[in-house]
Amino acid sequence: MSLLDKHALIERNATLLLVGSFLVVTIGGIVEIAPLFYLQNTIEKVEGMRPYSPLELAGRNIYVREGCYLCHSQMIRPFRDEVERYGHYSLAAESMYDHPFQWGSKRTGPDLARVGDRYSNEWHVQHLSDPRSVVPESIMPRYAFLKDVPLSPKGFSTQLVANVDVGVPYTKDMIANAEADLIAQADPNADTSGLTKRYPKVKVGDFDGNRSQVTEMDALVAYLQMLGTLVDFSTYDDAAGYR
Ligand code: HEC
Repeated sequence: MSLLDKHALIERNATLLLVGSFLVVTIGGIVEIAPLFYLQNTIEKVEGMRPYSPLELAGRNIYVREGCYLCHSQMIRPFRDEVERYGHYSLAAESMYDHPFQWGSKRTGPDLARVGDRYSNEWHVQHLSDPRSVVPESIMPRYAFLKDVPLSPKGFSTQLVANVDVGVPYTKDMIANAEADLIAQADPNADTSGLTKRYPKVKVGDFDGNRSQVTEMDALVAYLQMLGTLVDFSTYDDAAGYR
């Protein structure tokens, strides 16, 4: 029987065709899936990444609640036009503590993966309160109300505990101090020695310009100001990771 005849036989016999397809798909599946059982981690570790500070985490919750991801991505693709505009392409490790991740799939506004440190706190407050006052052609909605919503630290440690459940390495120390850390980060006069030890590179400040209370605006701006600032790309080697 020639090869062509054998092929014709399989093609004309539905059962044989099904069995053959099943075998091929099984082999393909095993080749793809089996190695995953032997990998400890599919994300390359990168120096500088740490879990979100409580205030940043609160800001991130607001970012998710307000649906900012519907207009903004946090995923710089490794293409020249993106890298020139936004900076180093996003690393998998940079969203390893995001549950859920905020990569997004639509850019009505710019990517925000590296927006941290690009503008002042005042700019962000002004822009979030009334985007058209700083970018006249903007179509971004206003979020001025965030300045008037106080952020209660009470019970915030449960947020950290929930993140531990999905694999974020918050320590007992971080959980025990969550509420105090949340307040301290928004107070430029607070003793932040514990906070900065727990969360290296954390930015402390009166983000919303209102010292009388911690608001949702404080949290959201603290979150935006840390985006993309944890990994030091001046020492990161693309080919080899850190040396
Ligand atoms: C309807 C779509 C839309 C939504 C929703 C939206 N934005 Fe925007 N955003 C834009 C557009 C368009 C721009 C560009 C014009 C501008 O700067 O206002 C922008 C710009 C920005 C910038 C400046 C980025 C840069 O690099 O210049 C920041 C920061 C930002 N948005 C944050 C947010 C946050 C935080 C939220 C959620 C609270 C949000 N946006 C919700 C459309 C949106």
